[in-house]
Amino acid sequence: MNTTKVKAYGTESAEADLKQLDIHRREVKTKDVEIDILFCGVCHSDLHFAKNDWGMTQYPVVPGHEIVGRVTKVGSEVSKYKQGDLVAVGCLVDSCRTCNNCKADLEQYCPEWVGTYGGYDKHLDTNTHGGYSETIVVDEAFVLRVPENLDPAGIAPVLCAGITTWSPLRHWNVDKGSKVAVVGLGGLGHMAIKLAHALGAHVTLFSRSTNKIEDAKALGANEVIISTDEAQMQNAMGRFDVIIDTVPYAHDLNPYVGTLTTNGTLVVVGYLGPLDPMLVTVPMIMGRKSVAGSLIGGIAETQELLDFCGKHNITSDVEVINIQDINTAYERMLKSDVKYRFVIDMKSLKG
Ligand SMILES: NC(=O)c1ccc[n+]([C@@H]2O[C@H](COP(=O)([O-])OP(=O)(O)OC[C@H]3O[C@@H](n4cnc5c(N)ncnc54)[C@H](OP(=O)(O)O)[C@@H]3O)[C@@H](O)[C@H]2O)c1
Ligand SMILES: [Zn+2]
Ligand SMILES: [Zn+2]
Repeated sequence: MNTTKVKAYGTESAEADLKQLDIHRREVKTKDVEIDILFCGVCHSDLHFAKNDWGMTQYPVVPGHEIVGRVTKVGSEVSKYKQGDLVAVGCLVDSCRTCNNCKADLEQYCPEWVGTYGGYDKHLDTNTHGGYSETIVVDEAFVLRVPENLDPAGIAPVLCAGITTWSPLRHWNVDKGSKVAVVGLGGLGHMAIKLAHALGAHVTLFSRSTNKIEDAKALGANEVIISTDEAQMQNAMGRFDVIIDTVPYAHDLNPYVGTLTTNGTLVVVGYLGPLDPMLVTVPMIMGRKSVAGSLIGGIAETQELLDFCGKHNITSDVEVINIQDINTAYERMLKSDVKYRFVIDMKSLKG
């Protein structure tokens, strides 16, 4: 198959820093869209994957699944996009398209879903490579349309941080007057606050950081509870319909379960792995409370969110960086030192 060599940033091992590498993109096939990448958001999952935190990384890795760019070429049967369109690619670039999940617009739960990076690229028989690169070629079914009124750098994080919080807010029917809490004010957390607020919910942030209170309120939170303050946690008992927990590492969920209302649900989106300490079932049984999980969102739901952001003029709060600063950005993300999403300006790779 004909391929084009493009510049990218990635790593060949868990220990090494990210550096410039060459990768190959396929020539557009009949249904493909070729995208010149303008911006790519930096998700904590990129860092987990580059560092093999989940024990499944195959190297080399080129991370990046919050991609915004312009269409440069389309295949002969592409009907939705044309050259020059402002488009996006999120965490998925393919799925089986026939299973019950795919038929229900839940491609993210398809057993054969293909991640934008670290998945299996059936066209090139390699790993898929993500958005820390000059271009990407994606089947039009997995390409999204970006409202032209939105800042392309600011909208990039909506493709993962946004949809990962939007999907549970929608699934658990968050609406005007719902009581929503968000745990952790990082990339996902700040989008969760903005989106829950835009849906009309009363929004509370649980944070370890006293220095984020004013920011949280500016983002749309009605109040902030410092999670390390026992008195504040005690006061929060029985209050929330839905909690979105974005914390990336193992932590104690039990204090948060207690803050749910009867029938309330704590949705874990941040941490992937065994809980430590274990969950205590007593408050769940005594109050019909649930602890659930949720993975990104399907293609139709992601388009719904992009359109919602266009209508309500919602973008992410971003710090735009050059690709050469990615290793420092990862170090800063580990210290929660980002307001509230790094986004790479891909001009810095092309120049
Ligand atoms: N389910 C999905 O589909 C999905 C999709 C995307 C990402 N993720 C995962 O979601 C997690 C969050 O991603 P992100 O990009 O939002 O990360 P992030 O920007 O680093 O934000 C995480 C926030 O969690 C809090 N936090 C960090 N370490 C903590 C610790 N040890 N204990 C308690 N709180 C801590 C901090 O907020 P405070 O300072 O306010 O406490 C921090 O700002 C990552 O693990 C990522 O892999 C999941
Ligand atoms: Zn992500
Ligand atoms: Zn499927």
